Amino acid sequence: MTNRVPFIAGNWKMNLDHLQAIALIQKLCWTLNDADHDWGKVEVAVFPPFTSLRSAQTLIEAERFEVRLGAQDISAHESGAFTGEVSGSMLAKLDAKYVLIGHSERRQYHSETDEIVNAKVAAAFKHGITPVICVGETLEELETQGQSAVPVAQTIAALSGHDKLSDFIIAYEPVWAIGTGKVATPKEAEDVAAAIRAALRENYGEEASNARILYGGSVKANNVAGFLQSPEVDGVLVGGASLDAEEFSGISRFQKHIVL
Ligand code: 13P
Repeated sequence: MTNRVPFIAGNWKMNLDHLQAIALIQKLCWTLNDADHDWGKVEVAVFPPFTSLRSAQTLIEAERFEVRLGAQDISAHESGAFTGEVSGSMLAKLDAKYVLIGHSERRQYHSETDEIVNAKVAAAFKHGITPVICVGETLEELETQGQSAVPVAQTIAALSGHDKLSDFIIAYEPVWAIGTGKVATPKEAEDVAAAIRAALRENYGEEASNARILYGGSVKANNVAGFLQSPEVDGVLVGGASLDAEEFSGISRFQKHIVL
């Protein structure tokens, strides 16, 4: 075990309206509170669509819930004529502590390049929002370049050139494991996380190598413990299974499956 606080993140993608979002957050927090979840020992965060952030913020504040709030994207720009985009200052006002950047679905369907990801990371740093930088190889890249090359290169590209690195998180999500039910083995996740950490250490020094590194791709309550048993893997980024309060609270309580 390390002293990095495990991070359990639910990426809701384009699901749930703001009323459904409130119901899910309530159920999740009640379930975890009933189970005496120690929120300081295992951090839990949800990443609803933009349209639910304000309602989620109000609920979390009113109920004093300890779940963290994150957004699924951030504009690289400060303000102005960028129809449809949402800026870092807007997200900061909504108490979004985290933001997903460079998710493979944005790289694939919205042509997000490493340069765009890098600019969005700068925007997050500027507004004190912790970027959760998503990296991962496609099946074709896995076959031609092996498992670590692309995620390591994407990590370095996302972080290069910033004056100072603030807090950040890397989420390793093999594209072939997202929403497919095909899951990487804990050993594969561990090896890639170790390669990313080694690259962080080499390029940015010891402090950067203490960043939390997550695994994502078909994580469920019944397979989460395997990933978190590795000292290299500090949490998980969950898609489909985060839409079910019972399942996601089961994932957040992964420690009950681990004999420490
Ligand atoms: P699934 O958990 O549905 O495979 O999605 C993973 C993911 O893309 C999280 O960002």
